Amino acid sequence: MALVIMNVLLLLFSVVLVRSDQTTTPLKSFKIGENVTYDCINIYKQPGLDHPLLKNHTIQMKPSRSELNSQTGNNITQKNKIKCPDGTIPVLKNTKDFLTSSNLFPENYVHPQSVDSPGTHIAGVRSHAGPYRGIQAWVYGVDLKIEKDQASYSQIYLGSGVNNKINYISAGFMINPGLFGDGRVWSYGFWKGKDEKGCYNTACSGFVQVSQTIPIVQPIDISPTEPSFLRPFIHQDKDTGNWWLTRLGPDEPNGDVGYWPKELFNLFDNGASMVGVGGVVKASPSGSSPPMGNGKLPDGGRRTSAIFANIDVLNSNYKQSKISYFPIEILVDSPRCYGLRVGTVKWYRRTRLGYFFNYGGPGGNSCGV
Ligand SMILES: *[C@@H]1O[C@H](CO)[C@@H](O)[C@H](O)[C@H]1NC(C)=O
Ligand SMILES: *[C@@H]1O[C@H](CO)[C@@H](O)[C@H](O)[C@H]1NC(C)=O
Ligand SMILES: *[C@@H]1O[C@H](CO)[C@@H](O)[C@H](O)[C@H]1NC(C)=O
Repeated sequence: MALVIMNVLLLLFSVVLVRSDQTTTPLKSFKIGENVTYDCINIYKQPGLDHPLLKNHTIQMKPSRSELNSQTGNNITQKNKIKCPDGTIPVLKNTKDFLTSSNLFPENYVHPQSVDSPGTHIAGVRSHAGPYRGIQAWVYGVDLKIEKDQASYSQIYLGSGVNNKINYISAGFMINPGLFGDGRVWSYGFWKGKDEKGCYNTACSGFVQVSQTIPIVQPIDISPTEPSFLRPFIHQDKDTGNWWLTRLGPDEPNGDVGYWPKELFNLFDNGASMVGVGGVVKASPSGSSPPMGNGKLPDGGRRTSAIFANIDVLNSNYKQSKISYFPIEILVDSPRCYGLRVGTVKWYRRTRLGYFFNYGGPGGNSCGV
């Protein structure tokens, strides 16, 4: 099956060179792992603001919303706490190698009828009944064995497509040794807008980080035996039109990470036409596809394979409902290797769930192109 989401997906995997010299002297740095250092940079001098479309941008320090329901669900406890001084924000320090591949995935999700991107596979759901102003979900993260030239993601996203142009924002977990130089699970954010380039995290300009403690991109401490859940929330600000990334959870109540300014987009003025959740993988050039989810097909119990649960969307009027209130469409392009199953649960830990989706699979050498 040919999928346009693939183009964006491809983009998610293509290579972009970014200069690694930092023009601003960091006020403070946090080294949280052997090869992972965050520099605290003056918020007004952050590299994200260098984007040509942001020449006249005024930083929004926090979202104007107050009425959105946030839910718990993030049960990650990070060992290495980052806390940048007032007026500064953490930016991942990029080493040379680190910065060589920045773009990957999306078009497949937006125009599922278009170009095939070899080696990219998806298993997910989307709803095309927009406009939507936001989406949040529990996103599942677990350690997987991913080769250097492969990648595996679990993401929530919003998108709009007109002809061959797309606007797209996603967030979630990724394992991408080619991008990070390690096989760990990282949180991430990705956008593609009017400049048609698309970019991860802070590898190129565009994303405006405002949180002093939660960087958009961060290696996640995953328990070796249990899955971890992250609850990202991408939502459009009612007053400014900017697209915020908020991390919800007990450790980080309403952790507003930062936002993608509205100036970056041209198809998102009145919201996004679709929302979705899913797994995405990129095979190695030799054709070997990595595992998705937790590596198991969704043919056992609810807890056997990876899961997206408690998915909430904001409609055009910013009203929050379960995704089960909207029509959904299942996108699976290599059912032998990666599957998706729709389940329903009414209540779980005193939270109304609606649909949940089990997804994933082992990958292998015969997943098709
Ligand atoms: C910034 O503002 C100037 C003066 O109003 C305008 O000419 C220019 O096009 C603006 N640039 C962007 C990227 O919006
Ligand atoms: C750190 O980077 C070096 C050089 O690229 C690599 O050999 C080493 O394995 C990395 N360490 C970790 C923990 O990823
Ligand atoms: C996170 O929550 C899930 C679902 O409740 C649970 O299965 C898992 O054990 C928890 N993980 C950690 C690290 O607490």
